[in-house]
Amino acid sequence: MRNRGRISFRRKSRRAHLMPALVGLEVLLASKGSKLSMLTYWVFHCSSRFLWWWGVLVFDSGALVLFHASGSLMVKWILMILLQFLPGAVSWGKEGHYATCKIAEGLLSEEASAAVKELLPDYAGGDLASLCSWPDEIRHNHIWRWTSPLHYIDTPDFKCNYGYCRDCHDLAAHKDMCVAGAIYNYTSQLTAHGLSNLENYNLTEALLFLSHFMGDIHQPLHVGFTGDAGGNTIIVRWFRRKSNLHHVWDNLIIESALKKFYSSDLATMIEIIRTKYLVDSTADISLWENCTSNQTACPNPYASESISFACKYAYRNATPGSSLGDEFFLSRLPLVEKRLVQGGVRLAATLNRIFLRPHPSISVA
Ligand SMILES: *[C@@H]1O[C@H](CO)[C@@H](O)[C@H](O)[C@H]1NC(C)=O
Ligand SMILES: *[C@@H]1O[C@H](CO)[C@@H](O)[C@H](O)[C@H]1NC(C)=O
Ligand SMILES: *[C@@H]1O[C@H](CO)[C@@H](O)[C@H](O)[C@H]1NC(C)=O
Ligand SMILES: *[C@@H]1O[C@H](CO)[C@@H](O)[C@H](O)[C@H]1NC(C)=O
Ligand SMILES: [Zn+2]
Repeated sequence: MRNRGRISFRRKSRRAHLMPALVGLEVLLASKGSKLSMLTYWVFHCSSRFLWWWGVLVFDSGALVLFHASGSLMVKWILMILLQFLPGAVSWGKEGHYATCKIAEGLLSEEASAAVKELLPDYAGGDLASLCSWPDEIRHNHIWRWTSPLHYIDTPDFKCNYGYCRDCHDLAAHKDMCVAGAIYNYTSQLTAHGLSNLENYNLTEALLFLSHFMGDIHQPLHVGFTGDAGGNTIIVRWFRRKSNLHHVWDNLIIESALKKFYSSDLATMIEIIRTKYLVDSTADISLWENCTSNQTACPNPYASESISFACKYAYRNATPGSSLGDEFFLSRLPLVEKRLVQGGVRLAATLNRIFLRPHPSISVA
């Protein structure tokens, strides 16, 4: 222990080399919304009272603050614990799904609303929207990796149209493995509920998948060209930020709109776009809800709309390397808002058709 000064100096210089790598790793993990990674990082760097320590704060806006400090261990721990509770490290990209499901919730029939509440786990507190991103959260887990193709449809390059038989399959050509097939699948699981017990499906999962996929199928680039993976391989700049075109349509247009027009308040944005389309507009919403020939779910026209919008708005003027700014943002935002509302209206209409009769377990009770 007498040599502590020297040892600690050596350790410090070794860690000084590690620092850039760790900071880089931390930025990466933090930007993916992993709170745990931040904790690990701070524990690692706070564990020696003789060392300076570093931290990274990641805000919703994507801004990063790198800071370091020295001081007593107690102060460090208190700071560290406080930082864990700062908002901003939650996972991104939830806004669109939340909006679609929130709008749907307000349009559910009494029967559908009761059935949905009964299927939701207790921790959802009866709020479907709070769990509508669940399928995105689990899709990278190996148990759930098979669900990944269910989030989108790959269509032939530059064709701008969609056909179920031609396009609804995964890379290995398994039929029905696409977002439209999944909407049919989970609708029929929920519809069969109480009618047959041949298959014991988890209907909580069915509800969450259906609600999420109804959002996905309305995002134009979730029905996009095979060659660029729905815009994922098209690298662009979004204002000053480097990103890809798919992410622009999943997240960045919505995030920029929140900041610019809705003081970063999602509830305000949802209320305003809901009112714009469902109260003030003269558009006939029953045309959105309408399903052909008595079907419970009809995802195919939604997918056709999406690829058509993808060609007209998403891919247009967004070639690889382009810089997208206000012009692209402001001309595309109305479409994004409309698709969020449309997804909500159609999710509600589908759930209302599914739960047309009183929910079996409610009528039995
Ligand atoms: C339908 O749902 C079941 C149960 O989750 C799943 O095993 C099957 O792969 C799904 N198929 C499609 C096309 O979604
Ligand atoms: C249904 O799925 C959810 C989410 O995966 C899980 O938490 C729940 O335990 C499952 N319910 C049953 C009865 O297996
Ligand atoms: C629903 O759509 C079908 C086919 O697209 C059409 O024939 C029917 O008139 C529509 N119904 C309403 C109420 O719009
Ligand atoms: C729709 O359902 C009604 C009642 O179940 C039935 O009489 C009618 O033939 C169905 N129409 C089509 C096009 O399937
Ligand atoms: Zn998804």
